[in-house]
Amino acid sequence: MPPAPSSSSSELRLTVFGTGYLGITHAACMASLGFEVLGVDTDSSKIASLMAGHVPIYEPGLQELLRTEIQAGRLRFSTSYEKAAAFGDVHFICTGTPQLPGGEGADLSQVRSCVTALAPLVRSNSLLVGKSTVPVGTARALSRELAESGHQVEIAWNPEFLREGTAVTDTLAPDRIVVGVTSQLAEDLLRAVYRALTDGGSRFFATTLETAELAKVAANAFLATKVSFINAMAEVCEASGANVRGLSEILGADPRIGQSFLRAGLGFGGGCLPKDIRAFMARCTELGVDSAAGLLREVEKINLRRRSRTADLALELAGGDLAEVSVCVLGAAFKPGSDDVRESPALDVAQILHGLGAHVTVYDPVAMANAARACPELAYADTLEAAATGASLVLLLTEWPEFTALRPSDLGGIVKLKNIIDARNALRPELWRTAGWNYRALGVGAEASAPV
Ligand code: UDX
Repeated sequence: MPPAPSSSSSELRLTVFGTGYLGITHAACMASLGFEVLGVDTDSSKIASLMAGHVPIYEPGLQELLRTEIQAGRLRFSTSYEKAAAFGDVHFICTGTPQLPGGEGADLSQVRSCVTALAPLVRSNSLLVGKSTVPVGTARALSRELAESGHQVEIAWNPEFLREGTAVTDTLAPDRIVVGVTSQLAEDLLRAVYRALTDGGSRFFATTLETAELAKVAANAFLATKVSFINAMAEVCEASGANVRGLSEILGADPRIGQSFLRAGLGFGGGCLPKDIRAFMARCTELGVDSAAGLLREVEKINLRRRSRTADLALELAGGDLAEVSVCVLGAAFKPGSDDVRESPALDVAQILHGLGAHVTVYDPVAMANAARACPELAYADTLEAAATGASLVLLLTEWPEFTALRPSDLGGIVKLKNIIDARNALRPELWRTAGWNYRALGVGAEASAPV
């Protein structure tokens, strides 16, 4: 049974298990709300580096927040589960749930081992709160297993909707807070934890464990579907001569549809959307609702087709053969504002072109080190100019502001041939064509000039 929320909720002490993207952000943000927070990870080198105030990922505002909260004494780190169990009233589980090697489902081993290690240690009046993205049914199964092994601790689920690049503001001013609970006390406790955010206007939804788990996966599935929908329209545009940029603007003007997540281009990637829709499909199959998974299979196929379409366009501009052709790739991160290259469409295309024999040189403002680690076979340049010099083809694959601000004259004097593929529909076609470039984009016919 969790503790009754005290009149001063800042007296509650919180722990955060797992110091990946989600855990570091959650720990620092909760500390900034006035709670005493202990971040826990089994990796002692990670903990040592966090204690020294170093955030191992590129996330605007996070490092500054972490340092401020450490200095204020509200945020500490440890590798000890015993210490954490004695310290915390509410224990947040933020460990990773990667895709299973060789399968589509989620690997729950980190969540599972955290919960089973923690349960015998925690005070009986504390609450375990899962934040990791898990297949629907996970929290109920874990609760049952704990009860069967004689542990009284209660489990709640509180999914996180933060986006990379805006993780701090998404955590401190979320549009909604979702908690799956099995008791009024757990709900009251989580209301107390998040009071500052709900006072600031965030909506609070208390629901069942299953609905809370599904709320996260369904949100990501919907966002992925929206991106693939407009990318399917891009395929129709390419075949018919229509222009997907104009189409997207017109569709988005209908408030029932909305403009966000309707940018056609190279599609979605990153550490969440691709793995979450695969885990969702696997769970649908386990639940015997395979037909629901069918929709997402198409979503994923459309997403991957954009990459092969981009490679086909590159081949076309190279006259059918990319062997020995110098190609400049602008962008390696899965989206601008992040150094994350997990399932990055940009790196995937770069690899395909490399496989077709092209000499690919990649430039990205922040993701170079991660990209070089993931794809050591590609060449990397320190500057945009160095990457473009002598290129016979330029591809804009991640829409970083410094790429979308490019003018034809910035590159015209240094490339060998004026061929450009705008795979994120981020440039103004008429500017490039007027300057003598062979400009191609996804979802826009070869001759279309104006964006609409
Ligand atoms: C996503 C969800 O938005 C977030 O709520 C969840 O917690 C984690 O997954 P994130 O992976 O950070 O967040 O990226 P997001 O901004 O959602 O973009 C996802 C992908 O879709 C990116 O690759 C982006 O380039 C692509 N995208 C997005 C498009 O191709 N078109 C769009 O219109 C929008």
